[in-house]
Amino acid sequence: MPFDDFNTAKPDPAIEAEVDGLLQNLTLEEKVHMMSGHGFHYFFTQVDNRQFGQRAYAAGSGCERLGIEPLYFSDGPRGVRHKEATTCFPVPMARAATFDLDLEERIGKAMGIEARALGVTLSGSICINLLRHPGWGRAQETYGEDPYQLGEFGAALCRGVQSHNVIATVKHLAVNSVENTRFKIDVNVDERTLREVYLPHFKRTLDAGCGSVMSAYNKVNGEYCAHNRHLLTDILKGDWGFNGFVHSDWVLGVHGVDAAEAGLDIENPEGVKFGAKLVAAVNDGSVSAEAVDQAVRRILRTQMRFDRASDPREYSTEDLACEEHVALAREAAEKSIVLLKNDGVLPFDRERLSTLAVIGQLADVENLGDKGSSRVTPPYSVTILDGLRKLVGADVEILFDDGSDLERTAAVASKADAVLCVAGFTWKEEGEFIPGDEALDDTDPNRRSTSGGDRYHLRLTSEDEALIAKIGAAHGKVAVALVGGSAIMMNAWQDDVGAIAMTWYSGMEGGTAIARMLFGDCVPSGKLPFTVPKDEADLPFFDPTALEIEYGPLHGYTKLDAEGIEAAYPFGFGLSYSQFEYSAATVVHAGDEIVVEAVVTNSGSLRADEIAQCYVGFPGSEVGRPVKLLRGFDRITLDPGESVTASFTIAPRDLAYYDVGSKSWRIENIRYAFYVAGSSRTDGDRAAYLDAPSRWSDLSFRP
Ligand code: BGC
Repeated sequence: MPFDDFNTAKPDPAIEAEVDGLLQNLTLEEKVHMMSGHGFHYFFTQVDNRQFGQRAYAAGSGCERLGIEPLYFSDGPRGVRHKEATTCFPVPMARAATFDLDLEERIGKAMGIEARALGVTLSGSICINLLRHPGWGRAQETYGEDPYQLGEFGAALCRGVQSHNVIATVKHLAVNSVENTRFKIDVNVDERTLREVYLPHFKRTLDAGCGSVMSAYNKVNGEYCAHNRHLLTDILKGDWGFNGFVHSDWVLGVHGVDAAEAGLDIENPEGVKFGAKLVAAVNDGSVSAEAVDQAVRRILRTQMRFDRASDPREYSTEDLACEEHVALAREAAEKSIVLLKNDGVLPFDRERLSTLAVIGQLADVENLGDKGSSRVTPPYSVTILDGLRKLVGADVEILFDDGSDLERTAAVASKADAVLCVAGFTWKEEGEFIPGDEALDDTDPNRRSTSGGDRYHLRLTSEDEALIAKIGAAHGKVAVALVGGSAIMMNAWQDDVGAIAMTWYSGMEGGTAIARMLFGDCVPSGKLPFTVPKDEADLPFFDPTALEIEYGPLHGYTKLDAEGIEAAYPFGFGLSYSQFEYSAATVVHAGDEIVVEAVVTNSGSLRADEIAQCYVGFPGSEVGRPVKLLRGFDRITLDPGESVTASFTIAPRDLAYYDVGSKSWRIENIRYAFYVAGSSRTDGDRAAYLDAPSRWSDLSFRP
């Protein structure tokens, strides 16, 4: 990988020497110009339909006199945002459910190729904010609740995107997980929680060579992120040795020139607080010339390293949404579907079924995710109804009803051999919250805002719940396909239906994938990247109107584990049309490598994929560790009757906790437990144990 040492090795001395020369030559105004995006000009002169991101634009403005190109930015997490039609992949939360890092890296490569074809040199594709509460409006843009999984996915996407010499930016640093008040909210979080829960995935992505970081809008411990010296300078550039540059989030991300001293290198999308004000601040001594030089050094160093890497191929608009990329979108959609319940209803049998009722307006609409910054416009998209019709052709008659009239819908369902209900959300109920379009009514639990935002509760609308319960009670063969970006509570109707599958915002080929899964042409294999609790009250406190909030060390499965509460559908859970069995785990350590293994057997009758997961437990900890933490996962394909050994290699570093007193990562000299299982619902009897050798407590790690 061309950039994998970007943050772990010292910067190239030849490039540094060249930067020294440029810093001598550049005027203060030119330096500040490089630190200021130039996106407003583009917005007001070249934007169609008031949509930002119609083409790549300057997000760091370069220097024409010296031939230094601007950074050309485009989002985003589900494909390259542009007015040209590009590949629309399933949203990152769906891709997290695949637990397939190789696939994520291939998706990253496809995004890198499409970015290059459109002149993008800085890609806002890597969103890895931790899903502390599933109500977060932008949940769909990230990879779930677990820091280990977030880091592995961030690193995989980064490797892919950057393999085409596009600088990837990882966002939003940090602790950004309330949407509606994102411009103001102050998140209080203690240092240990920050280091152990909210930051490790950023470090992991940067250790994979990520060249850029986007600061978040919110405050952390009283300081806006773009002004947060502790985050940007002490941790990111200091402790972690990050060599790239930090730029702000858009429009309301920067509040004054002091951000430059705190460690912000570029204001985006326009130099409103930087620009002329920063020039004046340097001239009057309130911001040091050194801070400006440091920022410009970081920008130049990163640009030079990426510009000079040789391209692995040529790029053209023919690459946009090409066959190969669309096939990847379909592969991801298929692998992402999480089967949550199946009492023999799925797969539908084409031979025996003559009519299928498809209920719910969401079966018949393009539903690719929110319409905020991550919006992608593909050349076409396959709805669930399209996918089904195409797959079954004349074999099965499809009766569609949008579900708007309960009695009529029930009558349609009663004529069919089986029923599929499609329910969930669109860009109206969740997603990026665009101020100005707000139409929130906090008093109405079924509110449908016109512009996404956080969810006030995790249930479907009462209309959808009533519809599913009615059809479910009246018909013996009902499957529900849920559409959304995060956890949905199913208590009100789950017992009334025979099958439930989480199908996400599944991208341009989603309908094809979902139809294939329903009819058994592919076997569902996704697993939940978050916990669905039995009761929303089991989750951490969440309030979309909060201006201040406290984040503690526990959320998701770590919180439920600590409180001894069972989840309705645990993190890592998902059914298959086949079955899998796990042997007890074994653990050995050879030097400083821990190897955990278990035999996984496909005891069902179909060739299928299983996602084996490895968790580490800390039963004797005296420093207050979670009950267990994910430390590995592996997607394996097994024929019926086949067994393979799932093997996970864990480094001692992965056992460490952050010791605030010594400001370092330490390993407790205790007995560790290791579990290998098909979900986070691990079985204590099948664990393997390892006493940490005493010398591990003396190991020291990069912070
Ligand atoms: C979002 C970022 C995005 C930026 C540029 C902001 O509103 O928070 O994630 O990259 O817009 O589109």
